[in-house]
Amino acid sequence: MASARAVEAINQTPETTTDEIPVNPPSRREFLFYIWGASMLMILGQSSVGMIWFMWPLFKEGEFGGVFKLDQTVVPSAGDAPNSFPEGRFHLTHPERGLLALYNVCTHLGCLPKWQGARGRFECPCHGSKYELDGTWIEGPAPRSLDRFEMTITFLDGSKSITNLTGDPIDLTGRSADDISLIEINTSKRIKRAGRT
Ligand code: FES
Repeated sequence: MASARAVEAINQTPETTTDEIPVNPPSRREFLFYIWGASMLMILGQSSVGMIWFMWPLFKEGEFGGVFKLDQTVVPSAGDAPNSFPEGRFHLTHPERGLLALYNVCTHLGCLPKWQGARGRFECPCHGSKYELDGTWIEGPAPRSLDRFEMTITFLDGSKSITNLTGDPIDLTGRSADDISLIEINTSKRIKRAGRT
């Protein structure tokens, strides 16, 4: 009797306690679609990172390679000794023709010419190249005059003057330093002089 009950129990179908959802493997088409979607997401992610990297400024304001903001108090009087900014690697000079930001590196082999007030010129300690207040070559082995940086001057009346492509001084005729609201020297924009003039 007992063995007959056991056989009956074995033959009974066990009750299902949960609803099982059949899992079908993705079709070939679905699989390709997933691969394509993942590839597109990767490409989008990479290009977004690249775009952010490109737009992120490489240099901060106030460090060489970035923009230096100065006020009128640092402007030398016309013909006076330049004001030097070693952290920005430039001299702010005021020759008669206007205001200039000179790159402080000698165009011969990269030494740092110093302003010699008694002689009224820059002199390079390495091989003796000499330059005028506006950076124009005077003598020595340097192949060209001192380079310049792009400068933007904003005046109190809201007008602006920007260094032109040849790096000419910004003319202050009819104005004075008191008319200046802001000077911006962009040390990422170096204007190379063509020669010794
Ligand atoms: S590095 Fe200035 S003259 Fe040679």
